[in-house]
Amino acid sequence: MLVLGIESTCDETAASVVEDGRILRSNVIATSVKEQALYGGVVPEIASRRHAEYISATVEKSLADAGITVQELDAIAVTFAPGLIGAVLVGVNFAKGLAYSAGKPLVPVHHLRGHIAANYLTHPELKPPFLCLVASGGHSHIVQVQDYTHFKVLGRTVDDAAGEAFDKVARTLGLPYPGGPSVSEAAKTGDPKAYRLPVPKVEGKYNVSFSGLKTAVLSAVNTANMKGETVHVPDMAASFQERIAQILAQKLLLAAADTGARQICLAGGVAANGRLRQLVNDGAQKLGAKVYLPQLRFCGDNGAMIASQGYYEFLSGNTAGLELNGLPTLPIDYNCSD
Ligand code: KG4
Ligand code: ZN
Repeated sequence: MLVLGIESTCDETAASVVEDGRILRSNVIATSVKEQALYGGVVPEIASRRHAEYISATVEKSLADAGITVQELDAIAVTFAPGLIGAVLVGVNFAKGLAYSAGKPLVPVHHLRGHIAANYLTHPELKPPFLCLVASGGHSHIVQVQDYTHFKVLGRTVDDAAGEAFDKVARTLGLPYPGGPSVSEAAKTGDPKAYRLPVPKVEGKYNVSFSGLKTAVLSAVNTANMKGETVHVPDMAASFQERIAQILAQKLLLAAADTGARQICLAGGVAANGRLRQLVNDGAQKLGAKVYLPQLRFCGDNGAMIASQGYYEFLSGNTAGLELNGLPTLPIDYNCSD
């Protein structure tokens, strides 16, 4: 089965053709990230405008690269939630038009389910059940993937998402957007023990909290400024990265130990973080669990992950009519009963 996946929830306009949920036939990504970086973060209106400009050519190229016509597709999958609503709607409306005109089934895909499916593209042998940390710019969840379309959230952030914390700390330290890559780059030459950052207290065994960590970095910078001193950026970047990676890895591994998970995955933009990948690898080995990490090119937003998850949603009968609407928020377990 050939599924086209369309993604436009943030600053990437992406389209990809995937065969049987696992085999990548094409992967095209147009991004407005450089333009967004001028403003230190994503400006929703700019994101929507660029999606509207890029989407047609992006989808066309994904079909051309796969060497197929739209008629050869078996389904058209699109991210319908959650995301910046103006951005989401560009993809949803395009997909609806294409599905209607080509007479193909339309498959709505939840963005975070897509991030998880990035692991299926990387590891052909991976099958649910597994435990997954999904950490992106907007969400940080510890999720039990019970089946391809059944999810149970065990823990989540009570305030900022992990990627958001990286982005905010980068801005505080004068590092460019997006913060994840720029903080990790700066951290390479820093000492992770240089600054003692707090371990946030949070209710809920598997929940996480990052706003205290972000505030601690901000107050260290402000205190230094008041004294006419400066914070050592590589040292602070390394200390922050170490702390946030430790928190995420510890919570994930705790949930894995408690639930007896045999397979552990990472997903989302923050899954590209080298220190997090290392800590999860090391901890899972001690638990005797197998770790699956998505290829770096599938960590950030892409159409392939939507096509992959779209395949499984389609097999489960999750299709939509032309009444499909985009949603700014939606829980990952939106149609799962316990
Ligand atoms: O999943 P994603 O591409 O988009 C959303 O769904 O939000 O995630 C983007 C987030 C950004 O906050 C970015 O700073 C973060 O992922 N990120 C990273 C790294 N690369 C991207 N965070 C930590 N380390 C990285 N290497
Ligand atoms: Zn994402």
